[in-house]
Amino acid sequence: MILVTGGCGFIGSAFLLQWLASSDEKVLNLDLLTYAGHPGNLKAVETDPRYRFVRGDIGNPTLLHDLLATYKPRAILNFAAESHVDRSISGPMAFAQTNVVGTLSLLGAALAYWQSMSPGEASDFRFLHVSTDEVFGSLTLDAPAFTEAHRYEPNSPYSASKAASDHFVRAYHHTYGLPTLTTNCSNNYGPRQFPEKLIPLMIHNALQGNPLPVYGDGQQIRDWLHVDDHCAALRAVLAQGRPGDTYNVGGRSERRNLAVVHAICATLDDLQPRSDGQSYSVLITHVGDRLGHDRRYAIDDSKIATELGWLPSIQFDDGIRQTVQWYLENKAWVESVTSGSYRDWIDQQYATRVQDS
Ligand code: NAD
Ligand code: DAU
Repeated sequence: MILVTGGCGFIGSAFLLQWLASSDEKVLNLDLLTYAGHPGNLKAVETDPRYRFVRGDIGNPTLLHDLLATYKPRAILNFAAESHVDRSISGPMAFAQTNVVGTLSLLGAALAYWQSMSPGEASDFRFLHVSTDEVFGSLTLDAPAFTEAHRYEPNSPYSASKAASDHFVRAYHHTYGLPTLTTNCSNNYGPRQFPEKLIPLMIHNALQGNPLPVYGDGQQIRDWLHVDDHCAALRAVLAQGRPGDTYNVGGRSERRNLAVVHAICATLDDLQPRSDGQSYSVLITHVGDRLGHDRRYAIDDSKIATELGWLPSIQFDDGIRQTVQWYLENKAWVESVTSGSYRDWIDQQYATRVQDS
């Protein structure tokens, strides 16, 4: 079996669903169920005998030791993290705790477990760490896209914590020989993404008739990767990646934020027109910028394309339509994750941003 951490989050749950749909191998999901973790994401597989869920913290060495000894996974995939940049700006400590200390704790448990294996099992074992392109910092408009050799220049507390975790993963390979793999991917989008991130937040606000808060001039560029493409890339890296290596994963879909928001509005105009006949784009509101806001991310995917034969398959226009459709068809999911503490976050995050237009 494989052990997945953070499997109740956005990407982890997509990975588990894809894994169980395409493989007979069992999975153990270890998730702390923070505000971002939703067991309902895995409703479709919760009674599947191949699926096992344990609530717990990757920062708990005793729990990790017991789980590894009991379940004996052949691989660990680490998705567990604090993942939202704005939350890292208002509260960095949780990011250091989970992303740095938590990953280090997982590496320590994995190392002890790996060292206890037979030589054959040990050579097949993999520790796959899911990281981000944000560790590379910000690009100018005409700069070449990030390759795996790009220097680390993290700019936010979030990206600094992910960079630190990447360095520990690298060190565990270099120092102890642990067979690690690291992936650095761009902005994911798709079903079941928590509506604190740009795309689901805009869909949710639009449907509520609330302002669509675009930070600053909205000309920041992100590369958008459909979560199912990302999960396919992770499976390819797990199966064929070279231990100790890192792999960049992108969607070949660089877009300005404002263009993304307009694409969401146009899709909603088509799928669920407003009763007043106006476009959802009338809700677009420029607000104060994010502190230290990175201007552009872009991925050079030539390594994973040439070495592992992986390419993204979902065009952004198709992916965004499918995503909007999913949110329209899953209002109960949105309601279940946006009660209580979600409202507190939205009030705290957006009430103080001055409207720019
Ligand atoms: P998410 O915030 O949706 O989910 C994180 C999950 O981790 C949640 O289920 C949460 O309960 C769990 N978790 C948090 N702390 C934990 C702990 N201490 N122990 C166990 N579980 C814990 O995040 P996501 O968007 O699914 O991202 C998954 C991974 O991919 C993260 O490592 C993130 O840095 C990385 N990543 C995300 C994106 C993106 O666009 N979402 C892009 C690049 C990289
Ligand atoms: O690049 C990969 C990263 O992508 C991941 O490592 C992170 O976990 C993930 O959260 C994401 O980070 P971003 O900061 O790029 O994503 P977010 O959805 O928060 O914002 C995308 C862009 O949209 C960014 O330029 C900020 C802007 N934005 C965001 C929000 C929430 C707005 O303009 N308004 C908003 O309300």
